[in-house]
Amino acid sequence: MTRIFTGLQPTNTLHIGNLLGSILPWQQLVTNTPDAEAYLMIADQHAITIKQESEVLHSKILEVAAIMLAAGVDYRKHVVFPQSQNPDHAYVGWLYTCLTPMGWLDRMTQFKEKKEKVEGYKEAVSTGLFAYPTLMAADILLYDADMVPVGADQKQHVELTSDIANRFNSLYGQTFKVPNFHTNKETTKLFDLQEPTKKMSKSDASDAGRISLTDTVDAIRKKIMKSVTDNEAVVAYDAVNKPGISNLLSIFAAVSKKSIADLVSTYHDAGYGKFKGDVADAVISYLEPFQQKMNAFLSDKAELQRILDDGAARAYKVSHPKTLEAAAKMGLYIHA
Ligand code: TRP
Repeated sequence: MTRIFTGLQPTNTLHIGNLLGSILPWQQLVTNTPDAEAYLMIADQHAITIKQESEVLHSKILEVAAIMLAAGVDYRKHVVFPQSQNPDHAYVGWLYTCLTPMGWLDRMTQFKEKKEKVEGYKEAVSTGLFAYPTLMAADILLYDADMVPVGADQKQHVELTSDIANRFNSLYGQTFKVPNFHTNKETTKLFDLQEPTKKMSKSDASDAGRISLTDTVDAIRKKIMKSVTDNEAVVAYDAVNKPGISNLLSIFAAVSKKSIADLVSTYHDAGYGKFKGDVADAVISYLEPFQQKMNAFLSDKAELQRILDDGAARAYKVSHPKTLEAAAKMGLYIHA
């Protein structure tokens, strides 16, 4: 059996670039790995390292779950669960926080980047944001994960996870399995519709540059029709000189399964209005069935909660013996 573990924060607005570039490739990895048992965790306790509006966070958790299920994760075979529904994560996260020198956390580049954006960060940034990689280590190590597919920005956190596992094992005896980092291959990289030299972003305050998975048909069409292009009126692929048109070609190709070359030969002289209209049609006919599935999960909250609670119960069965073992080895008051 190969255990594949990944986590997804329920904070930002997932968009079509996330679906094509990471959610579907993740799904493929799971499908193509013989004996895969995948754990997909909705990282809500990571989300609260930064202040969240309670109602918004709660509905985002369900929305992310519905997105993953609509993408086709087989929740009977694999485990989809919210982090907060399994208390072992925070518990073992605390054990690791006590084992991890501050210097290790100080070196994390993601924290350095995040804190630099906040003025007077010593007062404004939470201790949780600083210690967050120890919670992430617990997520991974509780399940003896073999493979941890994440984006490049999480590589350092997975390496720290290995350091924490080794430290625990050398202090208290072999307990945690050292995981393998696995980079998500970004097969489809999409750019911002308004600033096509910048990657499509989940967190940009403005929504005009991305096609969110929850956008209405009208919104999708408007965003594509208003996307920034150039004045040449020639549909051709040239990422340097024609980033806007090239990005629309990438989107069109990804959702229609046609090659960029074929699309260029069809639309070369068609004019940008016609081209954009057809890109919008293709995106809409790709996303509509996906959104129908997503909305079906969201409209039956009781069933969605049943799926997540069942996932959490199955996760707990695996994580709890490990939690008791680690706590007992550290000398805590544990009666098995
Ligand atoms: N930290 C990850 C992110 O921000 C999410 C995450 C939480 C995660 N726990 C994880 C990813 C465990 C992989 C494994 O994207």
